[in-house]
Amino acid sequence: MSPRLVRAADDATGRRDTPLRITVDGTPLDGVEGQTIAGVLLASGRLTWRESPSGTPRGVFCGIGACFDCLVTVNGVRDVRACRRRARDGDDVTTQSRAEEDAR
Ligand code: FES
Repeated sequence: MSPRLVRAADDATGRRDTPLRITVDGTPLDGVEGQTIAGVLLASGRLTWRESPSGTPRGVFCGIGACFDCLVTVNGVRDVRACRRRARDGDDVTTQSRAEEDAR
């Protein structure tokens, strides 16, 4: 388990977690209710999931919805900010790439 995810049993606040599972590019990732999609990705150890037009990796930059570096497609809806969208059990997430989009 990633050190980025504090298990409920280890959390001093005594919180109770409701587990959820999303798929990212077909790979199942487990999270807990309340996490953003970016939170689930980061907790799984994935730091980047997009590429800029120049091919440099992108993931969470601002974490508050301002920079749009974290865009993903969620359940067929493009350009969703992963840092702002709460993960829901069963979400189907696919990554996007500006390099791919610019080539179209
Ligand atoms: S990380 Fe900046 S909008 Fe999501």
